[in-house]
Amino acid sequence: LNYRQASFYKSAAKLSQCPENEGREVAFAGRSNAGKSSALNTLTGSNKLARTSKTPGRTQLINFFDVQDGVFLVDLPGYGYAKVPEAMKKEWQHHMTDYLERREALVGLVLLMDIRHPMKEFDQMMLNWSVSANLPLHILLTKADKLKQGAAKQELNKLKQDLARFPLVSVQLFSSLKKTGVDQLSMKLDEWFLA
Ligand code: GTP
Ligand code: MG
Repeated sequence: LNYRQASFYKSAAKLSQCPENEGREVAFAGRSNAGKSSALNTLTGSNKLARTSKTPGRTQLINFFDVQDGVFLVDLPGYGYAKVPEAMKKEWQHHMTDYLERREALVGLVLLMDIRHPMKEFDQMMLNWSVSANLPLHILLTKADKLKQGAAKQELNKLKQDLARFPLVSVQLFSSLKKTGVDQLSMKLDEWFLA
């Protein structure tokens, strides 16, 4: 699929505001500041499709981008933004759980982790959830440019080993800064969308 023709479709604060639950979509999830919005921009070759920011907590709504008829990429709000009040965190969790558990259009999840801080509690939770839900999960070790090539490879191989027992889970290096890993990500998305 040509991800470069993606365009903004709509924002939703909760499940009931999402587009009709038909067609196929892949959601980008991860801790706040992991680089979800940046990765979407890199994938689609546009630097202003999804809003990014140095300040964690930039994305607060579920944002839908349509690639073609019935094919969506979804930018999820980041998890774990410390400055958000407790009540809002609860609210976020509620909407995210709702989205993940009831969205039949969801064919796969891309989980982004800063390569310098992989597999935090939230990541582990998402991994466990997708495994038990039988939902394919593709992990992007983002900001790979922050490590030397050898160190990045090592981190990748370590995680690959840990995840080898999960047939629906895969992992790759990614950098929005250096634009590396884009083809590999496109191929994974094609695999899911065209299945
Ligand atoms: P929230 O919407 O707050 O959950 O964050 P996000 O996961 O969408 O992160 P975002 O894409 O806004 O990026 C956060 C910060 O990380 C920004 O300052 C980006 O420029 C930076 N960043 C994202 N990807 C990369 C990368 O591959 N390499 C480097 N060096 N910086 C990156
Ligand atoms: Mg974002």
